[in-house]
Amino acid sequence: VDGNEPEYKLIPHRDFYLISGIHCPEEVDEIQNWEIRDSDVFIVTYPKSGTIWMQQIMSLIEAKGDVTATMNQLNSDRIPWIELIGSKDDSAPSPRIRVTHLHHKFTPLGLKQKKGKVIYLARNPKDVLVSYFHFHKYAAMLETPEDFNSFFETFMEGKVFGSCWFDHIKAWYSQRDSMNFLYITYEDLIQDLRSVVDQICVFLERDLTAQQKADVVEHSTFRNMRRNPSANYQNVSTSLLDHSKGTFMRKGTIGDWKNYFTVAQNERFDRVFKEKMRDFPLTFVWDI
Ligand code: A3P
Repeated sequence: VDGNEPEYKLIPHRDFYLISGIHCPEEVDEIQNWEIRDSDVFIVTYPKSGTIWMQQIMSLIEAKGDVTATMNQLNSDRIPWIELIGSKDDSAPSPRIRVTHLHHKFTPLGLKQKKGKVIYLARNPKDVLVSYFHFHKYAAMLETPEDFNSFFETFMEGKVFGSCWFDHIKAWYSQRDSMNFLYITYEDLIQDLRSVVDQICVFLERDLTAQQKADVVEHSTFRNMRRNPSANYQNVSTSLLDHSKGTFMRKGTIGDWKNYFTVAQNERFDRVFKEKMRDFPLTFVWDI
């Protein structure tokens, strides 16, 4: 830490919160004009939905299960964020696999013309909230919450990077027919990772043997990712992530929200969920 770190704060931009210091609104607006190739793949998530996990799975699929590819290069270099300052990369070789937390309104127009492919990874929003609460405690670019209750309010107001969880999923999901779109949930990954690997291989037309798929599964388990510094952000600078206060590979389960939500918070969340998601056929696994 040399005192020259940028000042991070949430900046509203077209009804969506970005973070100053790592995102630039003008560059984000340019993304819609990016030239999309048929071979491009975009992983789209709301924060804390298992993005890092999908980055690992996708890298392994591309490497046909060979783990060395995921050990020698940081996950965010293998599969970069499109919204970070300076991330335009026209000359990168195909296939370009990219990741984003952005709202659908910033999507490259090509994706909406069925060029490229989108994998949308969703997670039950109660667990997202809890995971995000912990992330706010150790991520330098996010404001440390006073306590869980105050973060609960912040999340419900959508005053976080990624903005409102409901808006994010609804905007992407409602446009699914205009894109080459695969919808997956974190809970699917937990319950049957192998089937999801099969699904992704079909969607992306990747031809892997049964053994290679088994290797993908093996090297993307919670236990193995915890041991792979290139897969879990443990070497990211402490000026960005204070590793003494938390870790990306925190718990990796379904239903941790039950250890945090009060009965009243849970009832309120259920009411909001029912109201906001009433026209959406999406169901979630809330605990196992
Ligand atoms: P928890 O905080 O609930 O443990 P993101 O990359 O979108 O920020 O998501 C991080 C969340 O995904 C964390 O959730 C993390 O533990 C979980 N995760 C990452 N890799 C995982 C894996 N291999 N198995 C289960 N959960 C995983």
